[in-house]
Amino acid sequence: MDEFIEGWTARHGATRDQLLPLLHAVQEEAGYVQDAVVPLIARALNLSRADVHGVVTFYHDFRRTPAGRHVVKLCRAESCQARGGAAIEAAAAQRLGVAMGETRGDGAVSLEPVYCLGLCAVGPNALVDGRPMARIDTAALDRIAAEVAA
Ligand code: FES
Repeated sequence: MDEFIEGWTARHGATRDQLLPLLHAVQEEAGYVQDAVVPLIARALNLSRADVHGVVTFYHDFRRTPAGRHVVKLCRAESCQARGGAAIEAAAAQRLGVAMGETRGDGAVSLEPVYCLGLCAVGPNALVDGRPMARIDTAALDRIAAEVAA
């Protein structure tokens, strides 16, 4: 990952305002931002490890462990919650066999929160492997569970 970071900063610069773009690039390259890469990024951008760690842990978009083969994100923002999001989340965890924020033991699926997909009028909403799905109900969850199992 050291070479990747060196190459990236050579192309894009090594200033502190490059932290978020570099973290996104690392996640795209490796699939997640592993703890071991934090000091490498800190050194490359002349930041403290605490600065980098703080940003990685603040933003939900950054993964610190590898994702499952499928990623199901459920919206936890206000409109979706008002439309039964909490019950859908509980049903999703039961059907997918994984708790919110976790990856199932067999690596098949990660269940993650997301905070508003801009589809508030048709919630509760989800992103399944990056594909938006509206009006999630138990039937939709059954379809998602079948897709994940395939
Ligand atoms: S609140 Fe869920 S999509 Fe906006």
